[in-house]
Amino acid sequence: MKTFFEGICNLLTEENTETSLEIKKELEEFILTRDFNFSSNKGISNVSSEVVELLKMSRHSFAREIIEAEKWLQWRKTTIPASLIAEEVSDLFYVCPIIGIDTFTASDKFRLGLLYQKPNSYYPLHNHNAVETYAVIGGALGWTDGKEKKKLTVGDIIHHPSLLPHAFKTNQSGFVGLWHWSGDISPESYKVLE
Ligand SMILES: [Fe+2]
Repeated sequence: MKTFFEGICNLLTEENTETSLEIKKELEEFILTRDFNFSSNKGISNVSSEVVELLKMSRHSFAREIIEAEKWLQWRKTTIPASLIAEEVSDLFYVCPIIGIDTFTASDKFRLGLLYQKPNSYYPLHNHNAVETYAVIGGALGWTDGKEKKKLTVGDIIHHPSLLPHAFKTNQSGFVGLWHWSGDISPESYKVLE
């Protein structure tokens, strides 16, 4: 499990932004002060096995670390309040929070976690006050902000400034990403735009 957290630190170093380095500092402190005796997961197990199958095909070094940490990771429905997201949208993806609320390490400054979006799905345009970054660890996705379109694959990193709309479309593989939020991290500003 320690390797998993170190893997996140490596990704944050690679990202090399002011925010990513701040989050890394917080995570390093956590690594130094915890004994890593976590209880094994009580998350949604079929999601966990879908994620593992997808990551087995990834060449990203962090993919292996997620697979090795699998039994400690709790995949769950989004932490966005149900009043702000229709079930048909929240059913398309699962999250595994690592830094933030009710997870391994509490923070009121950042949120960080994994996201798995199901194959052949469209997560419609949405935005939020928080500044966000995604790193693609497994699978691929079509990205748009409503104007520009990009194809993102393993190793790609995308930044979303505050309130920038973004939508994700997957093909038969789905995708797994590491994401983080900074700035105004309260979920209340989250809005689906279409
Ligand atoms: Fe977002």
